[in-house]
Amino acid sequence: MKLERVYLIGFMGSGKSTLGRQLAKELQWAFVDLDDYFEEKYQTTISNYFSTEGETAFRQAEHQVLQEVTKLKNTIIATGGGAPCYFNNMETMNKTGLSIYLKLTPQVIKQRLATSNQVRPLILGKSGQELIDYITQKLAERAPFYEKARVIADAEALTVEGYLKIIRNKGLLTL
Ligand code: S3P
Repeated sequence: MKLERVYLIGFMGSGKSTLGRQLAKELQWAFVDLDDYFEEKYQTTISNYFSTEGETAFRQAEHQVLQEVTKLKNTIIATGGGAPCYFNNMETMNKTGLSIYLKLTPQVIKQRLATSNQVRPLILGKSGQELIDYITQKLAERAPFYEKARVIADAEALTVEGYLKIIRNKGLLTL
């Protein structure tokens, strides 16, 4: 089967959307940010969805949205940081495309999140030591899911060219 989708996974702030846009441009593929797709579909922000419906409902809705994007072709999909860790989402991604885990240390993630102006409900109001503790603990819980990715990338070292090489090589393999 031809490779039709690449899923970028990893913790909040690991650069999935930025990289996804760059890769899509280079490959002349489409780009979908799962969080944006969610907000478009539900006509609300994720932050608002979290506060009105709660995280459990968000995970269910996120699962549905993921099912929808598995139908897209020639698309790079940047997923939300929690998406791989609920239901059979990781298996779904591995069955329908190439998953790449953008692996970073808690320290690097913290630096990136501390300078981001995106509203993220899970870390709202956290900074300094509290933020690093949260990331360290959450990343430890999530790592077993993230590590089911077909490719584990050192996201600090890898360049866009490096990712393209991986995608082109893996794209020749059958899923
Ligand atoms: C979440 C990450 C967010 C978004 C939501 C929950 C998480 O996406 O889906 O706020 O559980 O890690 P990003 O990874 O794009 O920030």
